[in-house]
Amino acid sequence: MRKIAVVNMKGGVGKTTTAIHLAAGLAARGARVLLIDLDPQGNVAHALHLRAGRTIDELLMGLAEPADAIVPRIRDRLDAILSHPSAFSLERRLAGETQRETILSRRLRGVNGYDVVVLDSSPAMNLLTYNALLFANQVVVPVGMDLMAIIGARQTLKGIEEIRDLWPERGLKILAVLPTFVNAATNATRAALETLTADPHMGPFLLQPGIRQCIDLNYATANHQTIWEYAPRSRAAVDYTRFIDFVEKGRNDGRQETTC
Ligand SMILES: Nc1ncnc2c1ncn2[C@@H]1O[C@H](COP(=O)(O)OP(=O)(O)O)[C@@H](O)[C@H]1O
Ligand SMILES: [Mg+2]
Repeated sequence: MRKIAVVNMKGGVGKTTTAIHLAAGLAARGARVLLIDLDPQGNVAHALHLRAGRTIDELLMGLAEPADAIVPRIRDRLDAILSHPSAFSLERRLAGETQRETILSRRLRGVNGYDVVVLDSSPAMNLLTYNALLFANQVVVPVGMDLMAIIGARQTLKGIEEIRDLWPERGLKILAVLPTFVNAATNATRAALETLTADPHMGPFLLQPGIRQCIDLNYATANHQTIWEYAPRSRAAVDYTRFIDFVEKGRNDGRQETTC
């Protein structure tokens, strides 16, 4: 089973957007996918207009079984475990647990029937993010085209290094550093892509041209739809399709003609 965590210590870089489109895109192509929101802000539920009786909070506390927390068929072949602001205090409530960084892995041990699990995360190296990274076998790091997003990505890679040192048997791999909010006409984008390309830790994983800036992504979210449902001819739809091609087949052919 592929387990892909979407992480960056910086907020607002497109983590939730990427996690939703990664999960929905792979499900649309026939994979059975579970999308898990590990950010207490609960944005996956907001974006897709979903409600759950039991959330990641109860699952991690051992108060709900996976079957109770899974919201089935939010799209064909796509299930979800949602989050809620109650999860902000999980760190404190799980303080007494042994091996609390691997609680998610243990709680999901009996869950099968999925080809891919996609994990959305919060912009912090907190207990929930550690749990995401210790459950995952691959990481996608979305990076906005500004200095703070790049710093957040560097901090993320440091955190991943730390995890590799502490748990070498986990075999956590970086799948892609994904540029987001790309606008080739601006100096900010050019400078950010140059910095990312030159970075010895991120350059080798940089997936160009990434996801272009596209207002339709905001409208899609406001309508609780994916970009393929809301604006299938938009540049974001094309770019996320190319990203899914890469994740599915390791192919990145750089197609790039459309409107937004
Ligand atoms: N490529 C993009 N172009 C324009 N807006 C985007 C793009 N990607 C994400 N957004 C918007 O930016 C905001 C933040 O994205 P989000 O995925 O929630 O970031 P994060 O989860 O990292 O905080 C959302 O309103 C989203 O719709
Ligand atoms: Mg988010």
